[in-house]
Amino acid sequence: MKFKNDLILRVARGEKAERTPVWLMRQAGRILPEYRAIREKLSGFKELATTPSLAAEVTLQPVDILNVDAAIIFSDILVVPEAMGLTYEMPEAKGPWFPKKINNLSDVNSLRVLEAELELEYVYEAIKITKKELAGRVPLIGFAGAPWTIFAYMVEGHGSKTFSNAKKMLYSDPTLSHLLLEKITTVTIAYLKKQIASGADLVQIFDSWAGILSPEQYNEFSLPYISKICDAITEVPTTIFAKGAFFARKQLGLLNCETIGLDWNMDIEESRALIGNKKTLQGNLDPCVLYTSFSEIKKHTQNMLNKFGNHQHIANLGHGVYPDTEKDKVRCFVDAVKEHQFALVV
Ligand code: CP3
Repeated sequence: MKFKNDLILRVARGEKAERTPVWLMRQAGRILPEYRAIREKLSGFKELATTPSLAAEVTLQPVDILNVDAAIIFSDILVVPEAMGLTYEMPEAKGPWFPKKINNLSDVNSLRVLEAELELEYVYEAIKITKKELAGRVPLIGFAGAPWTIFAYMVEGHGSKTFSNAKKMLYSDPTLSHLLLEKITTVTIAYLKKQIASGADLVQIFDSWAGILSPEQYNEFSLPYISKICDAITEVPTTIFAKGAFFARKQLGLLNCETIGLDWNMDIEESRALIGNKKTLQGNLDPCVLYTSFSEIKKHTQNMLNKFGNHQHIANLGHGVYPDTEKDKVRCFVDAVKEHQFALVV
């Protein structure tokens, strides 16, 4: 595939690039009036996510409107538990809800594993349509949740600040926990490979709930499964974003992946020292910076870029953009990255 703009792929592979590429986690969605217009006509988020032509349309919106250097396929990490047998609901402004959740061994045994990837045909179709419509303008990012984060939703049954029921299972039944994590990992690998075969040019793993585990639990219940996924995905560059896992940066740096995402709590220079020079880093502006003035956004963005330095960095926020952010403020962030000139280092 010949790209007009392949900056993000080159930087992910550690190659030289003329400037820092930029995109935003959750760039497709409620920050865009164009997204809200499509969404209002539908029964809900799920109809949008499961209708490939519409999912492709909202995937392209931020490329056209925000001028970002990558598209990310419009979907959700929760499509994986659904494909395994636990359907989710997305009630308006309430967050995800699973009518059926995982409590015991018989629940784990009844999950689909080998057939699960076949349930996700609508995602592959959305990727194919998006690729065709992108026509090489920018690369397309595929994604999945990390096994621990998916486990957290499957056991808890809904979003939570503490995910205490999910953590309870890790402490009280580690054998059952590993069995479930193993199954999620198998499905995730097959799912990502199908996304890649359908056209995804790089993939990102979201471990959104990494930060609620202790370092010991993270080492036992999350890292080994992420590592398995990294070893299995050899076709395209892989990014691991483990939100809140400041304590695991050194181990994340040893994974068989190309890029590590940083959240805004992670000090940039300290992260580079812990992770080393072999990985590309992604991130990490506080999404709340985009609530301030245009000049402050510019200043904070330039400050972040200078800390990362002129190599192996993909600019992004430290987590998904908040839905009440003004579109022009997001544009300001993207433009500030594109305009940035690094001081010449001799
Ligand atoms: O633009 C993109 O980044 C692509 C689309 C995308 C969505 N969800 C669409 C979405 C991506 C990459 C995700 C990932 C996702 N989903 C994560 C990992 C990233 C993170 O934020 O940590 C998680 C934890 C979820 C689970 C999820 N989906 C929650 C908790 C919610 C409700 C809260 C919220 O932000 O609304 C969702 C819903 C969701 N996923 C929306 C969108 C656009 C909002 C639904 C709507 O439009 O009504």
